[in-house]
Amino acid sequence: MEHKTRIKGNVHYVGVNDRTKHRFESMWPLPYGVSYNSYLIDDEMVALVDTVDICYFEVYLRKIKQVIGERPINYLIINHMEPDHSGSLRLIKQHYPDIVIVGNKQTFGMIEGFYGVTGEQYLVKDGDFLALGHHKLRFYMTPMVHWPETMMTFDETDGVLFSGDGFGCFGTIDGGFLDTKMNVDKYWDEMVRYYSNIVGKYGSPVQKALQKLGGLPISAICSTHGPVWTENIAKVIGIYDRLSRYDADEGVVIVYGSMYGNTEQMAEAIAEELSAQGIKNIVMHNVTKSHPSYIIADIFRYKGLIIGSPTYSNQIFPEVDAVLSKILLREVKGRYLGYFGSFAWAGAAVKRLAEFAEKSKFELIGDPVEMKMAMKELTYTQSENLARAMADRLKKDRKNNE
Ligand SMILES: Cc1cc2nc3c(=O)[nH]c(=O)nc-3n(C[C@H](O)[C@H](O)[C@H](O)COP(=O)(O)O)c2cc1C
Ligand SMILES: [Fe+2]
Ligand SMILES: [Fe+2]
Repeated sequence: MEHKTRIKGNVHYVGVNDRTKHRFESMWPLPYGVSYNSYLIDDEMVALVDTVDICYFEVYLRKIKQVIGERPINYLIINHMEPDHSGSLRLIKQHYPDIVIVGNKQTFGMIEGFYGVTGEQYLVKDGDFLALGHHKLRFYMTPMVHWPETMMTFDETDGVLFSGDGFGCFGTIDGGFLDTKMNVDKYWDEMVRYYSNIVGKYGSPVQKALQKLGGLPISAICSTHGPVWTENIAKVIGIYDRLSRYDADEGVVIVYGSMYGNTEQMAEAIAEELSAQGIKNIVMHNVTKSHPSYIIADIFRYKGLIIGSPTYSNQIFPEVDAVLSKILLREVKGRYLGYFGSFAWAGAAVKRLAEFAEKSKFELIGDPVEMKMAMKELTYTQSENLARAMADRLKKDRKNNE
């Protein structure tokens, strides 16, 4: 019987779909769900690469047995210890007590700490090698993509890269798992949202990993979330490369809070002027409507960022503050920043935004606009000036890129 699980040769997909969870890591909405991918190499020695969330263990075990029946698994390779992948580790060990766990120095401390599992270990360092028979695996340490123990496993026989969360994206596997056999449209935005929110802070470790993998003859990327990439490898690596360099497209994200619509009118005036100046990519996010994960994704996407907030109890509007801290947490680099705010009796929002501007090290564009209560002629003029300064800065880059 031809296995529906076959990726190529003896490499099989044995992952599962989560269509139940509302928020990944209790934070990130999953409109298209998420998959937890695991892979089985059915060679003279059988190797399982990563596991799945514990909630899906029974489905997972059934998939494994569809491929290898009652034969034992010799190795469990752990590329990443986050519980969405290591969750089934203890149960796998119970079902396959002789399994040898393959990991690096950091991995085994976590296995014992999270699961109390000890036993025979195969400890690998950067560049180490494991032969399964036909398949020859090499291990590459890729620390801090996005945990300290993260590594990748490359099958030198078939050119399959088991990349852990690297190159992952949100979105379940609906039927086929191979990119050649499905419409992959929904995954691209979800890849940007996944990268920027989950991995976003670790641009430099991702760049180091990309350099390390640079010369490998990769024919398939098997990450732990989303499709198996074959015909889209260059595109997928390109997305991760650009995002991890904090490289961005021409465009402006306007992020604002507004209780009664006055601050929002400043945002509208800025957006209209940006458009009049020929900027096409303008994304407006009302912070209390848009989930922060979409805001962060758009900030990774576009070079311009304009933030606005009313004053609230002598502070910046709390929901805007939450976005500011998310930007700082991810150490986003190289954005053009403008800001504006409002108050009725003693302004605080614009002051707080000035502090943020300092911390972010972004290039400040135009003059900040502060409005008392509601829009006046002067507020329109100042908002338009800010928008024009941003548009000019973006257009200067256009010329430089020509
Ligand atoms: C709950 C609440 C608290 C506020 N606290 C302050 C404040 O501490 N200082 C101030 O100058 N204005 C304060 N304001 C006034 C708003 O900052 C001001 O009216 C602003 O224009 C509101 O913008 P919006 O219409 O976009 O919500 C407060 C308003 C509300 C509703
Ligand atoms: Fe992870
Ligand atoms: Fe993950």
